[in-house]
Amino acid sequence: MFATMGALGLAPTAQAASREPAFRAPSPGDFSLKGRAAAKVVVVGGGIAGLAAAYELGKAGYDCTVLEARGRTGGRNFTVRGGDTTTDTLGNRQTARFSDGQYMNAGPGRIPQWMVTLDYCRELGVPVEVFTNENANAYLFNEKAGMKAPVRYRTAKADMYGYVAELLAKASDKGALDRQITADDQERLLEFLKDFGDIGDTLDYTGSPRRGYRVDPAAAGTPGAELGPVPAVSEVFASGVGRYFAFEFEYDQAMLMFQPVGGMDRIPAALTRAVGERRIRTGAAVTEIKDTAHGVTVTYTQGGRTRRVEADYCVAALPPNILAKTAHNLGPAVQSALEACKPSSAGKIGLEYRSRWWESDHRIFGGITETDMDLSHIWYPSYGHLGERGTIIGYYNTGANADAYAALTPRERETRAVAQGVKIHGAKYRTELATSFSHHWRQTPYLEASWHSLSGGPDAPAFAPLNRPAGHVYFAGDYLSYTDAWQHGAFTSARKAVTALHSRVLA
Ligand code: ALA
Repeated sequence: MFATMGALGLAPTAQAASREPAFRAPSPGDFSLKGRAAAKVVVVGGGIAGLAAAYELGKAGYDCTVLEARGRTGGRNFTVRGGDTTTDTLGNRQTARFSDGQYMNAGPGRIPQWMVTLDYCRELGVPVEVFTNENANAYLFNEKAGMKAPVRYRTAKADMYGYVAELLAKASDKGALDRQITADDQERLLEFLKDFGDIGDTLDYTGSPRRGYRVDPAAAGTPGAELGPVPAVSEVFASGVGRYFAFEFEYDQAMLMFQPVGGMDRIPAALTRAVGERRIRTGAAVTEIKDTAHGVTVTYTQGGRTRRVEADYCVAALPPNILAKTAHNLGPAVQSALEACKPSSAGKIGLEYRSRWWESDHRIFGGITETDMDLSHIWYPSYGHLGERGTIIGYYNTGANADAYAALTPRERETRAVAQGVKIHGAKYRTELATSFSHHWRQTPYLEASWHSLSGGPDAPAFAPLNRPAGHVYFAGDYLSYTDAWQHGAFTSARKAVTALHSRVLA
């Protein structure tokens, strides 16, 4: 009964029962008794925002056409597999040589539990698996801070928490907190600190089994040998390892995290199927968006020919830095707002190895090694555990580090990334390497950004012209959200545009 009411537009549908309170997907029933009909919409940009807009509008029968400049949909959601070819804006052409079953997610790679991205995975039938975002067995290595060797995340954390607990417990013991909290509360604090830092009754941190073992505990007769020696407090602080421990508290980075089974692009692939291939034109580079008295005219080139789409409305779901370079008549306020969205850099290299030595030799099954080196992060794959081959993300860096790697040839990027990784993992990082593929978003045609920075956030006055329609043109993209650089931002921004457009059509 409820489902039938939903279909008639008299109750929320299952699809609309999402985490996001405001969104209700348009439905054909919305038009009944209104004397209105679904309109024709041209969607510029076949990334997550554009596909989501076409998908949601399509539920109510809108006639959508998606124009995508690149040869495939998904935008920055790009999973690289063997045979995939890219050419960047600097002219570097690469063809991935990954083996069957191996892939790298060059763009988004992790999904927090609370984001609507998972609701779309459920709705579209995209199976997901856990993405390991933090791993006690992964390493921390701050070379610039003077660390001589990498340290396990668990070891660094035990030492940092141990010493912090010791210092605070002793400060309390000496009366330093007497004016802040009661004696009873200091007792409770002490109880917590003893547990948190694994400090004994003397309140001295002298190490802990939490640091890990040199010889793992096993059968009777093998109690294990704890890792030693414990570094001095000053050494722990100077190493700078403490800066990484808050990552797991972040609202958007806390475990559990998820990834689609088989690659992140299972999401745009499913959206593309749901929208309908016949509604999507790839290789269609938009050259002009013109708002007219009764609608929109979008001009594009495809296969060397200039074509036009006339529609009632447009959802401009292309990156703001690209739209800023596209001819339009949306006005100077829109243009200034677009130009105020500053593009950022990020890059990744996928390193396929002939063996999963990080699992066999280092006992690392997924997760991330953090560094202060130019590679920033090394990601171990969260798929294919115990298999033969595996693909590591050898660098995931941003800003100046990403720009520095982007300026190199793909071969040079590999050489540099491997030389850095060897410092952490030893010779196998080089000798077991089978092939690599690197990708940089600032140098990717039709995107030219990993994400964007909007000073003051998307609701700052400078961006107001993009948060309302310019004539018949609505804007959508993760940049117009509080979760920029997440698919959730693209989905929710698309929903916002869809809701506004649909209300206007119904009015
Ligand atoms: N959302 C992106 C990440 O998790 C920036 O790395």
